[in-house]
Amino acid sequence: MKQIRHFLTLLDLSKTEFQQIIERAIELKAMRKAGEIYAPFPHKVLAMIFEKSSTRTRVSFEAGMAQFGGHALFLSSRDTQLGRGEPIEDSAKVISSMVDIVMIRTFAHQKIVDFAKHSSVPVINALTDDYHPCQLLADMQTYWEHRGNIQGKTVTWVGDGNNMCHSYINAAKVLDFQLNIACPEGYDPDSDLVAKNAERVTIFRDIKDAVHNSDLIVTDVWASMGQEEEQKAREKSFVNFQVNPAVMSLANTDALFMHCLPAHRGEEISENMLDDPSSVVFDEAENRLHAQKALMEFLLNASQ
Ligand code: CP
Ligand code: NVA
Repeated sequence: MKQIRHFLTLLDLSKTEFQQIIERAIELKAMRKAGEIYAPFPHKVLAMIFEKSSTRTRVSFEAGMAQFGGHALFLSSRDTQLGRGEPIEDSAKVISSMVDIVMIRTFAHQKIVDFAKHSSVPVINALTDDYHPCQLLADMQTYWEHRGNIQGKTVTWVGDGNNMCHSYINAAKVLDFQLNIACPEGYDPDSDLVAKNAERVTIFRDIKDAVHNSDLIVTDVWASMGQEEEQKAREKSFVNFQVNPAVMSLANTDALFMHCLPAHRGEEISENMLDDPSSVVFDEAENRLHAQKALMEFLLNASQ
């Protein structure tokens, strides 16, 4: 029977596979910069199911599949039967019978778990309320390109214990680094996930203590998609959790700054933070393309 490889969280990859995908992403990036046409997947189709907004994820997956010689289908829940309550099981069976690989951005993580269970092709998590593993492939590629191996380094996550924070916890486990998390009380990441990774994850209430001795500082919006009505309350809770050049100066001198974007200047970052010499945010955004091409190549080849 055909073995199907899904990518629902980073724990679906071994450390070796994660590193191979990063190395391959760097190769694919160099090939593209050199103008080389590499189209190993003619006539392959990627279905992209979006139940939340996106700029980077949509453009990177759609452009990536086109560059591979294949085709990508944008499926919004507003226009498909998924948005009208067709069961996930039926949708997964039907959609996967017609395409070669599926990417889903949705709310409840369980939805992609259920979809994957009934899919005959690989399923990629393109963000759920709980995880955003594709972003971590790009972030880890970016760290590798600028500073080399992240093993044994210290990363500080600043802000909400959200989907990105959870994926950083998983990355710390797979790639073996220390993770400090600076967040206000009441906004901690999932307690079971923290408990499972207690030897490498430490929670701080003071941003200054957290960033001390760090090699990478990462943050994200204070209110994620689906939490818009909490925006005002969160602005108050997170007021002491802004990343700015003064905060960066407390980290190691060669520390990098990352943000998955979109960013809210004046909230989780200062107006000038993206222009700080430590910021590699736009390399990070571009790497979504290369990292996800490497991921799709890996999943398609492994699932043959
Ligand atoms: N970082 C990220 O996933 O961006 P989009 O929401 O624009 O896809
Ligand atoms: N935590 C953010 C990430 C956006 C890419 C959200 O879920 O909205």
